[in-house]
Order: sequence, then structure tokens, then C-alpha cells
Amino acid sequence: MRGGARLAGEVDVAGAKNSVLKLMAAALLAEGATTLSAVPDILDVAIMSEVLRRLGCTVQRVGGTLRIDVPARPGHEADYDLVRRMRASIAVLGPLVARCGEAKVALPGGDAIGSRGLDMHVAGLVKLGATVESEHGYLIARAPRLTGAQVWLDFPSVGATENLLMAAVLAKGTTQIDNAAREPEIVDLCDLLVQMGAQIGGIGTSTLEVEGVEHLRPVAEHATVPDRIVAGTWAIAAALTRGDVLVSNGRAEHLEIALDKLTTAGAAVSTEPGGGFRVRMDRRPRAVDVVTLPYPGFPTDLQPMVLALNAVADGTAMVTENVFEARWMFVNELSRLGADVRTDGHHAVVRGRAQLSGAPVTAHDIRAGAALVLAGLVADGVTEVAEVHHVDRGYERFVPKLQSLGADVRREAAPEEPPLALG
Ligand code: UD1
Repeated sequence: MRGGARLAGEVDVAGAKNSVLKLMAAALLAEGATTLSAVPDILDVAIMSEVLRRLGCTVQRVGGTLRIDVPARPGHEADYDLVRRMRASIAVLGPLVARCGEAKVALPGGDAIGSRGLDMHVAGLVKLGATVESEHGYLIARAPRLTGAQVWLDFPSVGATENLLMAAVLAKGTTQIDNAAREPEIVDLCDLLVQMGAQIGGIGTSTLEVEGVEHLRPVAEHATVPDRIVAGTWAIAAALTRGDVLVSNGRAEHLEIALDKLTTAGAAVSTEPGGGFRVRMDRRPRAVDVVTLPYPGFPTDLQPMVLALNAVADGTAMVTENVFEARWMFVNELSRLGADVRTDGHHAVVRGRAQLSGAPVTAHDIRAGAALVLAGLVADGVTEVAEVHHVDRGYERFVPKLQSLGADVRREAAPEEPPLALG
């Protein structure tokens, strides 16, 4: 990309990656065809489709709709070649052990953003009566029938909350998950599970109460919640490039703190009568301090973008990362563009510079990739982001959308690891 363009126009966001992958896993809980709509056209959906196919499901995509046909007796194994491509494959663990009495899921690699343990997933399943072993790179969970229990999470982990929820809905008796995560994507998952016949109380709060049922039924249509991280990326892009962007189906209520930070930075943020929100900026952003926290705190997935914003802001900001400790890998790349960032433990101090300077950089994960592209849009000259295939995992038609907003950017084929040939 060549820096200097001001992003202006309208953009819409697809369904949330972090929701749809779990909705797809939840479909395993019922025999028959579940249809999801507003499904983003991203690589991670293709990978999860393949995970489900290898479990015996038929998965068909027509436009933004995905039909998942689950057999009476699905397989119970997710192997390493797919799980290593996408950590979220671990979301099949809970549904498979609940539905089949057994699950064998490869231990994930995934994004290079921290150790991302699975201890809470495992401890929770054990509380529900499963035996869990780790052997030859696989987690193997077994339970003829799970039984409801009280589970307290040390930290409101998104993945652990989802796995335990999907296990508990078919368990015998009542499960209470305390200190549960309450991201909008978890609410979306609860909504689908309730449509399937699950009994869940406390949806959207940090205490979930699940009354297990014998069977769940497939769902004829469920629309995926719009992606708040993609919407937030466009919002920050507008502020960063001193632009004017309408995110036509963005849900401002899912981004309250992030949009408030942009207002503090000097942007005008308004919700639009027809839905969506608009971000306008006509000045150099002011530096904004940010602390990442589980929802409704500032999302860790927007931390790299806010670091990029602060890199060109007027003033000095402190950005604190509380969710993924190794997310600072991105700082080295941002520094290659001339950003002045120092990190110490959970904190990064960013001294804003008037101008970044274009350079070749490398994306190490989805969000860092998107943030490097945003930084490149305000850097002097040309920036080339390598390993941009990471961005394809979470952003639908990112480059065409940037172009439609006026960015000078193009995609070049690169000798990168090609995506799997996914049927
Ligand atoms: C999900 C999102 C990711 C987002 C994150 C936090 C998906 C596919 N990914 O990831 O984009 O950044 O939520 O909002 O939905 N942890 C443990 N033990 C566990 C589970 C988690 O130590 O058993 C730690 C992790 O190492 C991490 C923190 O808890 O430091 C948060 O993890 P978690 O909330 O589980 O995130 P994910 O579900 O992996």
C-alpha cells in the first residue's frame, strides 16, 4: 500500500468469525441440518467446514449461508493438520464429548499470541464427569454421560466458556458456570443453543445456568452476529486516516469502550438512524490510554490497531495488554515503520510520531496483519505486508473493501504457504 489516502465511504461487516466457528461446532450437538446465515467468507470458516466434514458432516455453502448436515453418529476425532491451522477447532471438544461420549482433538498451535493454555477447558470437563488425557499430541476426553456441576473459571476465558456450555447443554442435571465470559459471540452461541432446545439462564451475564436436556434439534436458520472486531478495525482505520467511514451494520453497543476511545482521540462517532455507526476524524488523533480486558472491556483483538493509532497520535499513550501476553510481537513490526513503542511486561508506552515511514513488514497473526495494513495507510511511501494470508483468516474481502474506501492498496501473490485445498 502507498500511504496518504483518507478512507471515506460506506462498508459493511460480515458475521463474526469468533461466533460462526462456535456456531458451526454447536451444530454437532443435533442430528440433521442446521443452517447458518451471515457467514463470513473467510479462511477459518473453510477450515472449520473441513473439520466438520472429517467428522462425517455434509457442509454446503451457498452465498452467505452454510448448511451443516450432521449424521446420527458423527466421528469424534479432529486431527492435527487442521487444528494446527486454526486453534478454534478446539471448540468441537465439548460438543463431541457431550454427543458421542468421546472426543479426540489435536492440541492446537494457532496464532502466535501467547501460550493460550487449555487448563480451564480440561478442568471444566473433568468437573462435568469426563476423564481427560493428553497423549501423543491429542486431548482425549471421555464420558458416557456428562453430569451437571458447578464450575468456576479462574479467568473469563471465551473458549473455555463456550466448550463447557456446549458440553453442559446435553449433561444430566444442572451446570452453573461462574466467572463466565460474556462476549457478544457467547450470547450468539447461547441464542443458537436455545433455538436448538437448550435451557440456559443468565445469558449475557457472568453466571450461566444450564439445565441439561436429552436431545437437541437442528435449527432452520440462525443469523451470525456482525463482527465487532472487523467493525472496530474500520472505525479505527477511519480515525487513523482522518477519514469518514460509515460501518453500515456495525453494532455500536458491542464496541462501547472502543468507540469512546476514538471520541477521546478526537473523532466524531455517531450511530446512524438506519443502523450502523459512522466515524469521522478531521485532525491528528490525540493519544489514548487503553487497557484490554474481557468483554465489556476494550477487546484485545483491537489492541494492535489502537497501537497503530497511537503511533501517529499527538502525545504519549500507555497501552496495557491483560489477555494475551505475547501480543507485543507486533511491536517489532510496527517499529520497522518508525513507531516509537517501548514495552515492559503488560505495558507498552507509545510516543506518537507525526509520520510513519513505509517499509516491508511481516504479519504474525490476523489482527497484527490488519493493524500493519492500517499503519501502512498512514506511512510515508510504500509498505509491503508479508504473510498477509493471516488476514484472510478473519477479514472478508479486506483489500477490495479498502480500495472501495479509497486506499491505494493491492494484493500480490506471494510464495507463501498456500491455504489447504478445502473442498
Ligand atoms: C478468543 C478469540 C480471540 C480473542 C480471545 C479473547 C476465538 C476463535 N478467538 O480466543 O480472537 O482474542 O477470545 O477475547 O474466539 N487461557 C488459559 N487457560 C485456558 C483458556 C485460556 O490460560 O484454559 C488464557 C489464554 O492463554 C489467554 C487468556 O486465557 O491468555 C484468554 O483466552 P480465551 O479467552 O480463552 O481466548 P480464546 O477463546 O482462545
